[in-house]
Amino acid sequence: MNYTLPGEHESRINIQGIEISLGFPDVFKFEWIGQKDVLEQLLAAWLVIDKNDIPLNPRLIGKPGVGKTTLAYAAAKKLNKDVYIYQCTMDTRPEDLLITPVIDQGGGIRYVASALVTAMIRGGVCILDEANRMSEKSWASLAPLLDTRRYIESIVAGLKVSAHPDFRICVTMNDDASTFEIPEYIHSRLQPQIYLDFPEAEEERRILRENLPFVDDYIMEYVVNFLQRAHAAHDNYTVRDGINIARYAAKRLKSLNVNINNVDSLLREAILMTLGDDALAHIL
Ligand SMILES: Nc1ncnc2c1ncn2[C@@H]1O[C@H](COP(=O)(O)OP(=O)(O)OP(=O)(O)O)[C@@H](O)[C@H]1O
Ligand SMILES: [Mg+2]
Repeated sequence: MNYTLPGEHESRINIQGIEISLGFPDVFKFEWIGQKDVLEQLLAAWLVIDKNDIPLNPRLIGKPGVGKTTLAYAAAKKLNKDVYIYQCTMDTRPEDLLITPVIDQGGGIRYVASALVTAMIRGGVCILDEANRMSEKSWASLAPLLDTRRYIESIVAGLKVSAHPDFRICVTMNDDASTFEIPEYIHSRLQPQIYLDFPEAEEERRILRENLPFVDDYIMEYVVNFLQRAHAAHDNYTVRDGINIARYAAKRLKSLNVNINNVDSLLREAILMTLGDDALAHIL
């Protein structure tokens, strides 16, 4: 490595005479519920089994709201690592992904490490979230990081930065069409592919409960049954939709102060307002 590791509380690092400000980890209380196999697959991909071995760069694929970000975060926390989430967009430029120059108070230039480069330097986990939205130009800047070289080159700061041996990365991708085509040389660096599917009814119940511990059982059961019927019909409504429906129905129940016996009409309204008419096909 071409730098001395920063202390836990140091927010700057000097690499080849250039000072770089580091970012901060993302701290959430995300727990992964159910579907053990995908968690185990992700942890295995990150494992290093020999001094000549390197970690893989897995890709989590699934519908929006199926739990990709939650899984990546929870897996990283299982390894007791700090997690740095980078939200990718169509406008993400290579320098945004790596190191950005900013003007400091004295009018000079200061360099700021992205979440990704901070994770590389600190030996944390980076989640490149919704990475399918990124253009080929940005992906190209990650090519050396994602193969055996494990470094990035910041053109802006004129630096190469090697990844700490403990650094891990995982990318999440939606399998919808709102994305750029990812070039083949990047595909081959983002393996294995881990597919997330809808949870079973019992898991879905536990996930909803964990996210909404304050919501009435009747609302929860109704929403779980709705989601399971939607999954059976291959409609792409996810846990996130279920959480939104249950949360809104519970708020309406509270604000209208109606009896729980009249909650069906509020649930129907919550489904309609969350997902539209088509979703009503899945209520009894
Ligand atoms: N297995 C699970 N355990 C715990 N929570 C879950 C699980 N699956 C889904 N959730 C919950 O569902 C919601 C959506 O999950 P998440 O944001 O991880 O989905 P995503 O696949 O990353 O969605 P997007 O593609 O839109 O980014 C979150 O509130 C999350 O807590
Ligand atoms: Mg996500």
